[in-house]
Amino acid sequence: MASPKIPPQFDILVIGSGAAGLYAALCLPTHLQVGLITKDTLKTGSSSWAQGGIAAAIDPSDTPELHFADTLKAGAGLCEPETVKFLVENASAAIKSLVDMGVAFDRQGEKLAMTLEAAHSRPRVLHSADTTGRAIVDTLIDQVLHRPNIQVISPALALSLWLNDVTGHCQGISILYQEQISWIRASAVILATGGGGQVFSQTTNPAVSTGDGVALAWRGGAVVRDLEFFQFHPTALTKPGAPRFLISEAVRGEGAYLVDYRGQRFAFNYHSDGELAPRDVVSRAIFRHLEQTAPEPYCVYLDLDSISPEQISHRFPNIIKVCQQWGIDVFTEPIPVAPAAHYWMGGIITDVHSETSIKGLYAIGETASTGVHGANRLASNSLLECIVFAAELSRLEIEPHLTPEESASFITESGDWETEMELLTSVQQHLPQLMWHSAGICRSQEALEDAIAQVSSWRCQLAALAVTQYLLNLTPNQTVQLTSANAQQQLRTCAETLNLLDIAYLILKSAAWRTESRGGHYRSDYPQTSADWQVHTLVQGESWYKSPVIPFAQMNAKTTDGQSGLATPAMLGIRQKAEGRRQRAEGRGQSQ
Ligand code: FAD
Ligand code: SIN
Repeated sequence: MASPKIPPQFDILVIGSGAAGLYAALCLPTHLQVGLITKDTLKTGSSSWAQGGIAAAIDPSDTPELHFADTLKAGAGLCEPETVKFLVENASAAIKSLVDMGVAFDRQGEKLAMTLEAAHSRPRVLHSADTTGRAIVDTLIDQVLHRPNIQVISPALALSLWLNDVTGHCQGISILYQEQISWIRASAVILATGGGGQVFSQTTNPAVSTGDGVALAWRGGAVVRDLEFFQFHPTALTKPGAPRFLISEAVRGEGAYLVDYRGQRFAFNYHSDGELAPRDVVSRAIFRHLEQTAPEPYCVYLDLDSISPEQISHRFPNIIKVCQQWGIDVFTEPIPVAPAAHYWMGGIITDVHSETSIKGLYAIGETASTGVHGANRLASNSLLECIVFAAELSRLEIEPHLTPEESASFITESGDWETEMELLTSVQQHLPQLMWHSAGICRSQEALEDAIAQVSSWRCQLAALAVTQYLLNLTPNQTVQLTSANAQQQLRTCAETLNLLDIAYLILKSAAWRTESRGGHYRSDYPQTSADWQVHTLVQGESWYKSPVIPFAQMNAKTTDGQSGLATPAMLGIRQKAEGRRQRAEGRGQSQ
């Protein structure tokens, strides 16, 4: 079958169709032609799985200042205060916009209903039963499909950034779509590719969460930040054979509590806020408690006894349904739960306009590191971040293409990589286990270094494969028609495995580099938080840097070379280094 034609050029490309990508596409000026590229269906992603809700200080008893304070407290010293201020102050406008678009949040009488979640000092989480993400995503998809300036390209996998040889600016991407590899040019590329939970064997994340955005950006030379900080949600369904389906924190917010296999509550033994302490604290409490009660159980239990049956039915219909599918009647028995990897605080560093350290490349949503989550994200701040930062893109000004459009060359490729799939699938199977045991809830230098050695060895083995060589050395602007039926699936397996391996490497190295415990990063050999480490971890290529937590005013300043944002001393240094490298490469007659 002939491939549907994709235009060789858009004004803007948005990669990913979660809350961040969909909302960004809708906010971009309507005179711009937008390509929305997503690797599965439009609905697939963490956003549509979001349960608890979206945080906003809109109740008269609440204020953005309280929301600000709670976010900073959960973030354990690594939130960027001015960016958090921007988030909480824009929350109410974000909610209004969603309501105007038709998102049906639950109401109490005329007013929007709000619940409490861990580490919030007020009930400020708006919800739509326990399928808030679905309510938001369905509404946004409906709007996107009615917008003539947005073309959806799906299922299409973004493979690599397309950087300009001379300027280093991002000028488009390559994608795998309908058995073709194509290069699409754009004045701006917005990565909205979500998280990377699939790098861990126990995760609440969907299969598409393979960290592609971070891996692509890092390989392209972008600066990434705080990758060691992963949030482990305390309560994922834990039953043999069942997926790690999330049991929302809102269930604890409504009054459910944790018990061990003897039926004893234990959360208050670990923190004075008990079940509603920050997530990292509750996850570690469960981890520790399970260690103490081993070898007996592999899970603890969430008891909903204190919530009325009417309230359970009203608030958690989806949780009831999924638990029922796995033989659990939440009205009469506690739910078996344990922690699972849930949210990646780290990501591609961006300024408040969502621009990365590569000109023309933007990042939003979970793949970005805006600075709002610090070392530990406050519950329900993620959907809010997606909407607030995507909305800012309505101000995006693009420069016209500087390079004249050249016509693409065209080749065919039979792609016989079947014999190499065994190694790739073996790595795909074993890597998440390795990561769970070495970079999960409790980390140590020894385990991290062993894992780095294993991951490095896998990276070398994979680098030697013909399929990897093929993927990493695609010729820009050359369209490839794949002729073998399996080649597309093989390339996708390879691309996602390489991405998972790269993010595993970055998480492990960053976790080994940070010799303290803070937020989602806990080291059994360095259990204390250290004032010396109240700094971000910046990574570019193979270089790791410390960077201070800085006021927004500085962060948003223009650099001396006229490039936007990120004017921290560390960033200036990094940009100078990147510029120096580019000039040296040019001097040698090479280009990036
Ligand atoms: P996603 O929604 O994950 O979307 C990423 C998109 O990128 C997908 O469409 C994917 O297919 C696409 N993609 C990825 N790689 C590529 C590629 N290479 N090429 C093309 N497309 C690609 N947060 C809250 O604030 N409140 C909650 O109640 C809440 N509940 C949650 C429940 C669960 C089970 C999970 C997993 C997360 C929850 N979170 C919650 C976190 C929140 O849902 C996510 O952080 C947020 O939705 C991320 O949105 P996103 O648009 O950045 O990414
Ligand atoms: C949940 O419902 O517990 C998830 C909320 C979040 O991740 O913010």
